[in-house]
Amino acid sequence: MAIDYAEKIPNNVNLANDKTLQRALEHWQPSFLNWWQEMGPSDFQASDVYLRTAVSVDADGWAQYGAVKMPDYRWGIFLADQVPDRKIGFGDAMGQPVWQQVPGEYRSILRRLIVTQGDTEPASVEQQRMLGHTCPSLYDLRNLFQINVEEGRHLWAMVYLLHAYFGRDGREEAEELLARHSGDADKPRILSTFNEPITDWLSLYCFTYFTDRDGKYQLKSLAESGFDPLSRTCRFMLTEEAHHMFVGETGLGRVIKRTLEVMKELGTDDPAAIRRAGAVDLPLLQKYINFWCSSSLDLFGNEISSNSASNFANGLKGRPDESSYTDHVLRDSTMKLRTPEGEKDVPMLNALNEVMRESYLKDCEIGMRRWNRAIERAGHEFRLTLPNIRFRRSIGAWTGLPVDPKGNLMPKEEYERRKEEWVPSDADRAFVKSLMQKVTTPGKMAGWIAPPERGINNLAVDYEYVHLN
Ligand SMILES: [Fe+2]
Ligand SMILES: [Fe+2]
Repeated sequence: MAIDYAEKIPNNVNLANDKTLQRALEHWQPSFLNWWQEMGPSDFQASDVYLRTAVSVDADGWAQYGAVKMPDYRWGIFLADQVPDRKIGFGDAMGQPVWQQVPGEYRSILRRLIVTQGDTEPASVEQQRMLGHTCPSLYDLRNLFQINVEEGRHLWAMVYLLHAYFGRDGREEAEELLARHSGDADKPRILSTFNEPITDWLSLYCFTYFTDRDGKYQLKSLAESGFDPLSRTCRFMLTEEAHHMFVGETGLGRVIKRTLEVMKELGTDDPAAIRRAGAVDLPLLQKYINFWCSSSLDLFGNEISSNSASNFANGLKGRPDESSYTDHVLRDSTMKLRTPEGEKDVPMLNALNEVMRESYLKDCEIGMRRWNRAIERAGHEFRLTLPNIRFRRSIGAWTGLPVDPKGNLMPKEEYERRKEEWVPSDADRAFVKSLMQKVTTPGKMAGWIAPPERGINNLAVDYEYVHLN
């Protein structure tokens, strides 16, 4: 179904046919716009930003580009097209038709899944709200705002489900999604990673590489859901999410490229010299990777989880790319899990968070391999690595245990003493902060990052992607 932009709320769910729902969402809309003004990007609301807007939900050609002031962005409700005769693809109800309404017995758990996902979307906008003031280029500024408006749309996507399928409870949850705020002492966001402030662009690139990739995995597993409206919503969100990870992957790649240039110019790999030249030394980047990767690993939850078991068995949440597996019921398989007490055999159903976490780490490896090839080609021995799955965990069996980035348990004192070798120290953060100087001349880049290979939508890199008004 085509997207209707004539409506107050653009949508492809035939909102005009359901006046009660339409009125309820039109009532929520001003609250959303207020939230955007107060908690969205600080300043820049009057700037013209070269943004893409969805015009259809097809895999190709869904984006239309043009200069838009962010508050005028057409946030709407877009679901991927319904797959005819879709069947539940996993769990005990495998093969039965998917649900078009929420089954009564799964109502509260589905609401919880949607609220938890929905909460991350505005949270990330809040975390990133000050970054515009230190953008390394107009190209990057535009990418930041593209991500921000799309996370705003992802909030719309979840709020639509809450309003359309969960009655009064859903409407109350939709209000709460605007009432919690990232880092707020009284009403924080639900998941801790989304309460970490993002005050520098190195963190933004790590966040979009690691944390948005967690988002990809969560959306992929919800896209398998037997609750069809949720599946269709997540399938379309995934097309937008791809750009967020692109920003992370190319952003980190450009930082590394610039660092290698500086190393070549100076003829040294001495971190202090590289810092004096205004670039990010590779050991420092490694610490940022350790920090954001470990923080994102927590988002998958406990290694052993009865919730994940029942969500899977009941057909609510599958594994990413469920069809690529052979066993979709998992009643007879087990997984070996390493815990601080030794190896354990755990029913596979209870270990699904760990299954997801492992496939997520494999996905994270892809960029690392590419960057390491660049480092190797430049003639350096240094290699970037992902931290071990047990490092710096605050959820699950390894919570709070002194484990180094290679995964080895060590005495607590040694861990505390060496921690600043592994995650950014205050001095590291202060140095990164000192690099963050705003660059807004079209085509110019801050000194710590290389220009991108190409611009957005075939435009030149020096196109004026944001016109500051
Ligand atoms: Fe999102
Ligand atoms: Fe995202």
